[in-house]
Amino acid sequence: MSTLDYSVDPVFGPPVGCRACPRLAHHLDSVREKEPDWFNGPVPSFGDTRARLLIVGLAPGLKGANRTGRPFTGDYAGDLLYSTLRRFSFSVGQFDPNADDDLELDDVIITNAVRCLPPQNKPIGSEITNCRPYLAGLIDRLEHLRGILLLGRIAHDTTLTTLGLRRADYPFRHGAEHGVTDRITLFDSYHCSRYNTNTGRLTPELFDAVFAQIRRRLDET
Ligand code: URA
Repeated sequence: MSTLDYSVDPVFGPPVGCRACPRLAHHLDSVREKEPDWFNGPVPSFGDTRARLLIVGLAPGLKGANRTGRPFTGDYAGDLLYSTLRRFSFSVGQFDPNADDDLELDDVIITNAVRCLPPQNKPIGSEITNCRPYLAGLIDRLEHLRGILLLGRIAHDTTLTTLGLRRADYPFRHGAEHGVTDRITLFDSYHCSRYNTNTGRLTPELFDAVFAQIRRRLDET
């Protein structure tokens, strides 16, 4: 396992204080005023730089990644994601929702399509476009990459664009597997948000099935 050093590798995320997206920058300014002790910035990727699996989420949650500075840490989506990762042996150590832990990811790295907190959890097109070079940089950097788990349609679409692929050729469908290069397979899943589990669109069992499929594929290679 190896851990990223964000301070010396700008490829892994926008610079601290990035204001490329005015709407996001203003939103973060207002959250920062109320909650000066929160992270309130572009959240770096977290995980193993030698990973075969990349997980792409949507964007930091207000009281989750935007508070703690670590993707999916501190909200419901993260509780489900990190407990699933543990069960499928993608992590070691304890997970703490305040990121006050010794958790390390093994063979997986987690990032977001958009690195800054969007209002109402909904990034707009220009924000997704502005953040895409950081996803591209990360994908380029992961020399052992074999699979990308795309949590929701925005992650799916921006990753296809990043890879120069047409959406029409690879429609989003929960549980779908798309072999896009001789090296990389994309795996689609509904996002593990509280909304999706409350409405029954995604159950922990359905989420497990996606990870079982990923494990099988990784173990085959
Ligand atoms: N937290 C994240 O970091 N990303 C998501 O997509 C949701 C919650």
